Amino acid sequence: MIDLDSQPTLSSYYPLTCAGTAGSVELIGHRLVDLDQIVSRTCIEGLHVVLSNDPLGQLNTLLLHAPDGRLRLKNLLHVFEPFYDVVLIDTQGARSVIVEMSVLASDMMISPIPPEMLAARELHRGTLALLQSLAPYEQLGVRPPPARLLLNQVNLSRRDTRLIIQSLSADFVAHDKVTLCSAVVLDRVAYLNAASLGLPVHRIDYRPSPSGGLSAAQSMRQLALELFPEWHRLIDPASAPDVCARY
Ligand SMILES: Nc1ncnc2c1ncn2[C@@H]1O[C@H](COP(=O)(O)OP(=O)(O)OP(=O)(O)O)[C@@H](O)[C@H]1O
Ligand SMILES: [Mg+2]
Repeated sequence: MIDLDSQPTLSSYYPLTCAGTAGSVELIGHRLVDLDQIVSRTCIEGLHVVLSNDPLGQLNTLLLHAPDGRLRLKNLLHVFEPFYDVVLIDTQGARSVIVEMSVLASDMMISPIPPEMLAARELHRGTLALLQSLAPYEQLGVRPPPARLLLNQVNLSRRDTRLIIQSLSADFVAHDKVTLCSAVVLDRVAYLNAASLGLPVHRIDYRPSPSGGLSAAQSMRQLALELFPEWHRLIDPASAPDVCARY
């Protein structure tokens, strides 16, 4: 995980077993790629994080004036490739040079959206505008990635939420660049509990709720399979019961 949000929520989510001496400022600002310095190890085996250490948001100003600003992360990511299966880049939601740089470095962009019609439409418009503004980078051989909108904090027992999901799905069907994930993340207290415990939510909420809703573990698995169908053999309990039981 690379935390590029100046408000470092992700950096403080998991307890660390070994903190790096450097973080996002050194990676992005100084182009430091020594993993021993920039990577911190979390208490989850194999899950490492580049901590955000830019509380004043100075990286954004630096990137704005750097000739390689929006391409800097893309040019640095190769150092992680031999060691990691997935690199997850977390940014703030509001548009900024950091967000544009992160989008251009990515194979896929995921935007969590609330299940409210106006907010979701606004986000859809904003995402399309962002991708359009980055389209000229195709001339340099850098194609902005497809965007996936993910409904978060969904309460399926609410009729308005179900209607919103139907309407949004119809809206997005015509776009190839921006699509709505069919998996949704339910509004559940388990997400708050998991954050307080510093654990992945699937480790604390793996039983379907008595009302019949999916457990957080089921939701996360569904989402992971939708985003990475190639993981089917790894995380589908039908094909890998032992691995799934362990995680
Ligand atoms: N599906 C959910 N159900 C219940 N609570 C949730 C859910 N998703 C997020 N939350 C809670 O909402 C709060 C904000 O979530 P999150 O950190 O994902 O948002 P964010 O926009 O990235 O915030 P930040 O700006 O702090 O990074 C957290 O307390 C989180 O536990
Ligand atoms: Mg966040």
